[in-house]
Amino acid sequence: MKLVNPPIHLAIIMDGNSRWAESEGRHRDEGHRAGAKHVRTIAEACADLGVRYLSLFAFSTENWDRPRDEVDFLIHLIGETLDNELDELVERETKVQFIGERSRFPSQIQRKMLACEARTAKFEKLFLTIALNYGGRWDLTNATRELTQAVQHGYLQPDEINESVIASYLATRNLPSPDLCIRTGGDRRISNFMLWDFAYTEFCFVDCFWPAFEIDVLQTALVEYGHRQRRFGGRRELNRNPSLVESS
Ligand code: IPE
Ligand code: IPE
Ligand code: MG
Repeated sequence: MKLVNPPIHLAIIMDGNSRWAESEGRHRDEGHRAGAKHVRTIAEACADLGVRYLSLFAFSTENWDRPRDEVDFLIHLIGETLDNELDELVERETKVQFIGERSRFPSQIQRKMLACEARTAKFEKLFLTIALNYGGRWDLTNATRELTQAVQHGYLQPDEINESVIASYLATRNLPSPDLCIRTGGDRRISNFMLWDFAYTEFCFVDCFWPAFEIDVLQTALVEYGHRQRRFGGRRELNRNPSLVESS
């Protein structure tokens, strides 16, 4: 299926791994493992559907508050997934970047992240951003700290600070604002994802758990997005797309 007007930047809050595992009578870790594995399926489908930028919320600044064994497993899984997926990402010409405070992860995980970014830096088919130890509040706090330092050192005057200057200090500085955010798992909240970037983002909340988020549900969400009228506070009809679907 080809969409006439897919979102250029799709953000996904990949929620529901633990409830999926519970519903299958399996251990929570297996839910996280199935969730990690599912990223490839959805990333490939997004690229095929015409999404250029895909941003995935994988681990929040608040997820450290989970039980120690779960956090340890998630960190282990991040390393394992980076090892397992790198060749496929290269094969699919996917450029990867990680956003979030990396210093809290073990150095061997940080090295894997850097290696993945370096090896995929030249690709342009899909720009995949993975948010790890990321929070919208963290990003804004960090940006504020760096902005203040720039002012302190005289590189920036306070009256030069405007929206684009602030955006240029965020971890998301090289991304357009997300057009659509999909949250799986049935909850209807942002959970501290891209607070600044979501100003005019469309939202789609789906009830299925992340490991069970099927490609046809993704397609339906993207088609529905295409029918929405985005006004950005104005009156002009922007991005109105009546005819969306071309059959494959
Ligand atoms: C999402 O799955 C993965 C992370 C937040 C790391 P959850 O573990 O939050 O699954 P639910 O929402 O509790 O089912
Ligand atoms: C949001 O899921 C964060 C990620 C998917 C990484 P959570 O499970 O952490 O969110 P809450 O706690 O339900 O808000
Ligand atoms: Mg959750």
